Amino acid sequence: MDTVDTSEANRKRSKGYKGIGMEGPVARWYAKNTAKTLGEFRQCAHEIARHLSDASRVLEVAPGPGYLAIELAKLGRYQISGLDISRSFVEIAREKAQAAAVEVDFQQGDVAHVPYESDVFDFIVCRAAFKNFSNPTGALNEMYRVLKCDGTALIIDLRRDAPKETIDQYVDTIGLNWWDSFITKWTFELMLKRRAYLKNEITGLVSQTPFEHLAIEETPMGMEIRLRK
Ligand SMILES: C[S@@+](CC[C@H](N)C(=O)[O-])C[C@H]1O[C@@H](n2cnc3c(N)ncnc32)[C@H](O)[C@@H]1O
Repeated sequence: MDTVDTSEANRKRSKGYKGIGMEGPVARWYAKNTAKTLGEFRQCAHEIARHLSDASRVLEVAPGPGYLAIELAKLGRYQISGLDISRSFVEIAREKAQAAAVEVDFQQGDVAHVPYESDVFDFIVCRAAFKNFSNPTGALNEMYRVLKCDGTALIIDLRRDAPKETIDQYVDTIGLNWWDSFITKWTFELMLKRRAYLKNEITGLVSQTPFEHLAIEETPMGMEIRLRK
């Protein structure tokens, strides 16, 4: 009889994300292009800061180049951690935090196996990443585990039914060159939208986790999903 612990075997086998990993040139290309949307990260950081106090402990799941966590760190004396599966992004984010003279603890790891103790974070944010996770319920369960009681998780992501014209108009506002704009629109339509969820699918995923408080607000291109422990 097979005595292998399948959950451990699965954990080792799973790469944690759908599609290709964001390493090396892909990570640098993404960091360069999203730097042009710094205003959005700043605005998002200000909105999150309204829910925090000076002692708050915050986790950004999948921060990529780290822009949101870094903008948040500029706004208060929070204790901020960032967990991303990409080694390249962790390096880029650490460099950017150092250049901005802020302290954020960027670590490499998989959201489905968060390397932090239970009940430690007041707030978790995850932006433009949830659709990429290969184990979305594992991710939600881990967010629940590491959140403090009464803590909030905010997931911001694309909707599968986001209209192409809305996405194209958004990409046109970023100020990318012709080629980067073409690749970005193509990536949204042929990769990201296909992975993205609909509102009722998110409700279904959350129902498989211990989260009892869920609110989903649809935005022109995406969803803001608020979960409370
Ligand atoms: C499109 S980027 C978004 C980055 C950033 N949040 C933003 O708003 O620009 C998706 C991120 O998810 C990360 N990622 C994908 N699967 C992950 C996993 N299982 N655990 C942690 N991070 C993951 C990728 O490495 C990448 O940084």
